[in-house]
Amino acid sequence: MSNSAEIRINGNSYELPVVVGSEDEVAIDIGSFRTQSGVITLDPGFKNTGSTQSAITFLDGEKGILRYRGYSIEELAENSTFLEVAYLLIYGELPDKETFDQFKKEVSLHTLVNEDIKKILEGFPSAAHPMGVLSSLVTSLTAFYPESLDPNRSKDRVNLSIIRLLAKLPTFAAWSYKNEVGHPVMYPRNDLDYTSNFLYMMFGLPSEKYEVDPVVAKALDQLLILHADHEQNCSTATVRVVGSSQASLFASISAGVNALWGPLHGGANQAVIEMLARIQQDGGDTAKWMAKAKDKDDPFRLMGFGHRVYKNFDPRAKIIKKAADDVLDKLGVNDPILDIAKGLEEVALKDDYFVERKLYPNVDFYSGIIYRALGIPVDMFTVMFALGRLPGWIAQWKEMRENGEPIGRPRQVYTGSKLRQYVPMNKR
Ligand code: ACO
Repeated sequence: MSNSAEIRINGNSYELPVVVGSEDEVAIDIGSFRTQSGVITLDPGFKNTGSTQSAITFLDGEKGILRYRGYSIEELAENSTFLEVAYLLIYGELPDKETFDQFKKEVSLHTLVNEDIKKILEGFPSAAHPMGVLSSLVTSLTAFYPESLDPNRSKDRVNLSIIRLLAKLPTFAAWSYKNEVGHPVMYPRNDLDYTSNFLYMMFGLPSEKYEVDPVVAKALDQLLILHADHEQNCSTATVRVVGSSQASLFASISAGVNALWGPLHGGANQAVIEMLARIQQDGGDTAKWMAKAKDKDDPFRLMGFGHRVYKNFDPRAKIIKKAADDVLDKLGVNDPILDIAKGLEEVALKDDYFVERKLYPNVDFYSGIIYRALGIPVDMFTVMFALGRLPGWIAQWKEMRENGEPIGRPRQVYTGSKLRQYVPMNKR
């Protein structure tokens, strides 16, 4: 492999370094190209632009490979726990028992939130989407921990913010749901594991004894693992760019929550279920909806299908499809929407339109079906995704800070008016 690339433009030739990653991915480092030539590169949507060199997650979209810190997603989903995966992503290695026990203890020590945060929560109308509530509550942490505003403080200080955020996000997530349904909030129970504690705060009521179903807890924990990181996606890139201005961890993650919300990203899990329910109500004619998805004059898209980087299969979708069958079976749930989803997938995988464009089910196609079976309401699906993605966002923010990366600031090609003269209003 050559260690330089040549770009020729206007009769001049420029040599640029080539960077090779640990899995042999090749990139042209165009950092000095503009200084040399006065020319920029253009890539709307960053479809072919690497924004960083990262040691956290490896993804090969053609082969359907996803690894966190070198460990395959299949192995982690099968054998690990979400909190262990969080440690792995954030600190780079799997913890030994002693380290993990200490980490678990620290996280459970910070699950309570300041009572004044409840007042902020109470200010939201019950119709507020829980994602908006979640991002606001994360931002509110900057007010309760003003010392966290400066990300250049000691490593220990930064680490305390990391632990606080990991500990408090389940509390915020569950409370955003309680606000929606008008129920009293439940305080965290530190005798429960991370995911069970969340379920307890979400579904528990002061008037009833709530026992966490281990099948539900295990299934949710696995879903959180599958969502824990996904290299430079829309929300993670947002977290890194916001953090690159030296905004605090809480401010950066709150921006990530908002970026995740959209239906083309994390909001797709909600959009998938709404779509499947619509198809079911419409009589379940999958062929009709497939035709709509292919019709360029129809804005309808098959939600949960297609991915910017996976062009063969999404390894997370494979695990989730199997998990959906298992979980529904174990919980004795019969969801007709699962049959519609399977029917759509079967047709799409054989359809030229989808095959040519390499459109396959993504992580969100089946995750909503599991969330439904676990009793999680539709508008909380993206909140579940945020809960899962948190360790990835934190790890990426931390790495960006530790690498001392410069402020994220893309360039543009200007297509507006050339210089013109101001005309006073009475003469226009
Ligand atoms: N249904 C129908 N057609 C589709 C779909 C779909 N779900 N996805 C892509 N296409 C078509 C596009 O119309 C386009 O066709 P064309 O080449 O004839 O114009 C082609 O496939 C390529 O699609 P793009 O939108 O250019 O691909 P891009 O990489 O920009 O978008 C995305 C990827 C946003 C995921 C897209 O596939 C999509 O909108 N999917 C549905 C939403 C979804 O499931 N999002 C979740 C993604 S996973 C995640 O964020 C966790």
